[in-house]
Amino acid sequence: MLTRRTLSKTLLAAPFILKAQQGPLRARVKIDTERIIGDIDPKIYGNFAEHLGRCIDGGIFDEKSPLSDAKGYRKDVLAAAKDLNVTQLRWPGGNFSSNYHWRDGIGPRDQRPPRLDMAWGAVESNRFGTHDFLDYSQALGAEPYICANLGTGTWTEAQEWVEYCNGSADTAVTRERKRNGRAEPWKVTYWGLGNEMDGGWQMGHRDVVEYSKFALEAAKLMKWTDPSIKLIAAGSSNYGGGSDWIGWNRTVLDFLKNHADYLALHLYVGNNANDYPEFIASSMELYDRIKTAEGVIDAALNGVRNRKIYIAWDEWNVWYRARGANQGTGRRILEEHYNLEDALVVATFLNAFINNAHILKIANMAQLVNVIAPIFTNDTGLFLQTIYYPLQLFAKNARGKALDLFVETPRYNSRRFNGVPYLDISAAHDNGSLVINVVNRHRTEAIETTFEAQDKGFSTAVEAVEVNGPDIKSENDFGKSPVAPVIRTAAAQPKTLRYSFPPHSYTMLRVKLV
Ligand code: AHR
Repeated sequence: MLTRRTLSKTLLAAPFILKAQQGPLRARVKIDTERIIGDIDPKIYGNFAEHLGRCIDGGIFDEKSPLSDAKGYRKDVLAAAKDLNVTQLRWPGGNFSSNYHWRDGIGPRDQRPPRLDMAWGAVESNRFGTHDFLDYSQALGAEPYICANLGTGTWTEAQEWVEYCNGSADTAVTRERKRNGRAEPWKVTYWGLGNEMDGGWQMGHRDVVEYSKFALEAAKLMKWTDPSIKLIAAGSSNYGGGSDWIGWNRTVLDFLKNHADYLALHLYVGNNANDYPEFIASSMELYDRIKTAEGVIDAALNGVRNRKIYIAWDEWNVWYRARGANQGTGRRILEEHYNLEDALVVATFLNAFINNAHILKIANMAQLVNVIAPIFTNDTGLFLQTIYYPLQLFAKNARGKALDLFVETPRYNSRRFNGVPYLDISAAHDNGSLVINVVNRHRTEAIETTFEAQDKGFSTAVEAVEVNGPDIKSENDFGKSPVAPVIRTAAAQPKTLRYSFPPHSYTMLRVKLV
């Protein structure tokens, strides 16, 4: 059979007939609102703020900047973060959390002790601590998520942090909070049981049994302090060097299946080889890892009644330039500058989260400002990186129920993955409003797509927003944004919606279903 791939090879030898025989690439998508994957948890649009480089100090918080308010929060950063619709904010790390002793960050700012931060080779002033983070989360309208120190910290330290934040009984710990100016508990729901504990780079790294036992005792004390909290166990982040990432998750869940509510997983991807077809297929790895982790969770919960454990993908992003030897030094570390292809990969990750809405309930893009982040500042202002826009469009629009779609699309093989769909897609249905998010991975060709409504009909008006740019390597910077959302026109008929997705683009379509 002459498939599209063999056809292209044949036509390389006879380029003059290429146009006539090839025609446009086409895809077909069937939409049925009764075929539901699960509820989209808004917490999949979370971010992460670590004491690292200029993320907090010099990003979120800059006491000396004329752009900051009386509390030291950069007003322009807060406004950009609010407009991103950050639903959850993870803090204080990351690797930093594994040697963070939270009492260093409470009480009068000028009396807080500066400490050596061995995770990132810096000195931590501790001028931004628990009160500041929780106050900032409130200002942002984001749910706080605190990652406890299960590296060099103790069980009691983790337990007392919960008590300090959530306790209402009159104890020495809640009195301490009141003395520091906060009478009412904050009621922080989400607590991490350490960060990347499977990595040898982690301060206080343990083997899986040691970690699991330690985390179990911490979990008991934390939940006995406040039974309403949700705990996130440290799953895999270390996939390289023959590490047994599945075994790590299996053992952690064997120990923690009655205490953990989420399993935390991390994934960063990059394009070191400058191989676009391979890089743009990165979310295939994410799908594989989610599927495997779900199987491990199901196995752990086999026979356990009335318990659910979800996946918290609490660190993810493109990160490869400002890394390792190229990381930079001093305060300007992990300052990745993003381009269009990175933004497309980010959109495919968000599609993967929606397409796994039944099991994946938290996701935190790492990070929020300057450090591998959608917002980038200097002393006089900021610009929005390319990756800001897909996250913003998803966070503001893709809510409700994730739909299970029938998708017929041209595919290709990359170095690691077979059958990569050129059209990467997810759909969210919320009260008669349908939001379809589409990445056309193809570098040079548009894909003419027909959406077929199954149980309902489309109304005529279609809102279309496209994120694209002159080239896959186009970058935004101070004073220039070649990659930004553009409004397009589209219309539907009652049973069909036709749209041509341009090469290397991300498009959000919104249409009412009647
Ligand atoms: O986000 C940067 C770092 O990446 C985090 O501190 C760590 O958890 C991960 O390795």
